[in-house]
Amino acid sequence: MKDIITLAIESSCDETSAAVLKNGREVLANIVATQIDLHKKFGGVVPEVASRKHVENIDAVIQTALDEADIKFDDIDLIGVTYGPGLVGALLVGLSTAKALSFALNKPLVGVNHIEGHICANFIEDKNLEPPFICLIVSGGHTHLVEVKDYGEYEILGRTRDDAAGEAFDKIARALKLGYPGGPIIDKLAKIGNKNAIDFPRVYLDEDSFDFSFSGLKSAVLNYLNSKRMRNEDVVVEDIAASFQEAVVEVLVNKSIKAAKVKGYNKIVLAGGVAANSGLREKLIQKCSENNITVKYPSIELCTDNAAMIGCAAYYDYIKGKISNLTLNAVPNLKLGQK
Ligand code: KG4
Ligand code: ZN
Repeated sequence: MKDIITLAIESSCDETSAAVLKNGREVLANIVATQIDLHKKFGGVVPEVASRKHVENIDAVIQTALDEADIKFDDIDLIGVTYGPGLVGALLVGLSTAKALSFALNKPLVGVNHIEGHICANFIEDKNLEPPFICLIVSGGHTHLVEVKDYGEYEILGRTRDDAAGEAFDKIARALKLGYPGGPIIDKLAKIGNKNAIDFPRVYLDEDSFDFSFSGLKSAVLNYLNSKRMRNEDVVVEDIAASFQEAVVEVLVNKSIKAAKVKGYNKIVLAGGVAANSGLREKLIQKCSENNITVKYPSIELCTDNAAMIGCAAYYDYIKGKISNLTLNAVPNLKLGQK
């Protein structure tokens, strides 16, 4: 059978990325131009600045991916692109480029949900991984507990009711004046801090709910900081980082294990930027082994935003005949499972 070559484009937030994949799971190139340094001085992503930088970067990023994969435009079978969720201006850069290429080259276009892309990063990481499984998707914009029934078939069991897990990491890091993005910095500090130093709240919501809430924890950390400052007392940043991370991780892990048990699965898969967190990985591995559950997670490069994961999701849609047309628009608040 002829190999299927996917060109994938991702520009939903602050990474301009293009990838080339063979048969959906083999990455021939995955180029990521990150804008983190540009947004750092503002303490977060500035949407308009992100869009402009995507426009500057996108052509070169695509050309570099094709060159690295040793692929010409003619060799491409489909073009996969993120069309939501994300920042509308940023999404439109990747989407318009993909539509132009699809039209000019006469190749099919496949619009991909960014969250679905994060799940699919695991299919690239582990070539033998097959659905069904429970997936915990934790990123800067999303916290979802999902039953992955088949390729492209999802049931959302729970989601955050307020802040996403990554957002909580970023906000706490900002309050501690640690810089952006906060997740990796807190992760690093947590390694040398005492996770039992401060008893921050674990918010489980209702007994049967798989939803999450991190705003109460965020307020608790901010209140702790304010009261220390008001009394002119020193704080141990490493202990705050470790105690905060532990409170987030404990809830994420316990809810994931419960979802696997309730739904009768013995496999949990991690996805999204926060899946890079070493405390989360460690605790999930430990709790899963106690419960005879297998754990899978992508390598760090595949956890954070990249086009390879989008290409994998596009491939599975393509072989099922799910093709988009050129009227496809960016959908900033696109939900998982919604086409
Ligand atoms: O998936 P991603 O690259 O972008 C979104 O789709 O949102 O995730 C970015 C998020 C940021 O909030 C960042 O702080 C967080 O992932 N993150 C981490 C770590 N690495 C990235 N959070 C905790 N620990 C990490 N090691
Ligand atoms: Zn993402």
